[in-house]
Amino acid sequence: MVFKLSVGLLALATLASAANFKRVACPDGVHTATNAACCVFHELADVLQTQKFDNQCAEDAHEALRLTFHDAIGFSFMAGPSQGTGADGSIMLFEDTELLDGANNGVDDAIDNLRPLLQQFPISAGDLIQFAGAVAVSNCPGAPRLQFMAGRPNATHPAALGLVPKPEDPVDKIFARMEDAGFSPTELVSLLASHSIARSDTLIDNRQAVPFDSTPFVFDTQVFLEILLKGNESLPAASGEAPAQVPNPLAAQGAMRLQSDFAIAHDPQTACFWQFMVNNPNAVAGGFHDAMAKLAVVGQDTSKMIDCSEAVPIPVPAVNKPATFPAGTGPELLQLSCNSPFPSLATDPGKATTIPECVDGDTNLNDCPS
Ligand code: HEM
Ligand SMILES: *[C@@H]1O[C@H](CO)[C@@H](O)[C@H](O)[C@H]1NC(C)=O
Ligand SMILES: *[C@@H]1O[C@H](CO)[C@@H](O)[C@H](O)[C@H]1NC(C)=O
Repeated sequence: MVFKLSVGLLALATLASAANFKRVACPDGVHTATNAACCVFHELADVLQTQKFDNQCAEDAHEALRLTFHDAIGFSFMAGPSQGTGADGSIMLFEDTELLDGANNGVDDAIDNLRPLLQQFPISAGDLIQFAGAVAVSNCPGAPRLQFMAGRPNATHPAALGLVPKPEDPVDKIFARMEDAGFSPTELVSLLASHSIARSDTLIDNRQAVPFDSTPFVFDTQVFLEILLKGNESLPAASGEAPAQVPNPLAAQGAMRLQSDFAIAHDPQTACFWQFMVNNPNAVAGGFHDAMAKLAVVGQDTSKMIDCSEAVPIPVPAVNKPATFPAGTGPELLQLSCNSPFPSLATDPGKATTIPECVDGDTNLNDCPS
């Protein structure tokens, strides 16, 4: 199978045409914009970076990214708009209803963090959520600069419960749910690059910020590699872990692995695409960019929206470190479900190191580990 990388032609064309327009001065006296409607997002980017994310790819940024998904996936082609209108801010506007769904456990942190900005800026909840996610991602080394379209109307009703995939769901159920929102299995793999910058706060009893890979503050391809390593069966599951997680090779180091990520990595529909992502940062960043552009406008009428991507900060530079087997692991642990040749990767030297962890009860996970 051959996978095509998206070339940034569209982005180039957009830049070229934007250059033909005069920039307008924004009311804040600080920014200029190609379209006056984007001024508010230039201001919002500054406030998000200084007051919410501290320019970091840390807890608050991770949570803002997760929120983009949990809002947008509240949409179903089969059930129709009465059951949810996608990336519409409903998760914030109807939090009391949507958080009854256990799949949304933990997203209240991001909602609480961002909601005050709705009073400060004349924008909709859907625009706030998707823009915050794009700004958050720009703080993660190696991440693409995400597209941002402005103009989502406020949701008028909550999304139905049960539309957000759960880590314990069978893989076919997850694929069907994503398909019903417009995403193919391989687009889901592209979206799961998000789990490169992710930690669980809710799944394991008495532990917070348990990472899904060894580098939760870098947008890299490690997550695609580490999920392919054979789990350490001799480690008992931590209390609360099952059934959402499966044994993983970095358990002793403090990481966890979601059942859903594991199943998607090995399903015949996705195994080769998953493997293709390993040590392929261009494919990971390009795929994530394109799939996030789709996710951010699920259920929305893009003909009524304005491209304000220019307000998304230029991401911090990539670390440019090839994928490596974490110390204490190695190619002998590879568990592959795709026949394509596997890239030859180095192993980090030394003994297995513990991934620094937050202490349960840490109030500011953003500074943790410090
Ligand atoms: C099959 C689909 C998915 C499942 C089952 C899933 C499940 C999960 C779970 C269980 C957590 C841990 C939450 C916690 O305990 O705090 C998590 C974290 C996260 N997810 Fe997903 N996820 C999926 C897809 C996505 C997508 C499409 C995105 C983004 C576009 C995303 C972004 C994140 C992020 C950034 C975190 C980390 C949050 C943090 O560190 O606080 N996930 N996911
Ligand atoms: C969306 O709803 C919030 C909360 O009621 C409100 O503060 C905000 O002004 C609304 N935005 C738009 C664009 O309607
Ligand atoms: C599996 O976990 C046990 C218990 O912590 C540890 O002694 C062993 O070295 C681990 N095995 C591998 C291959 O990491």
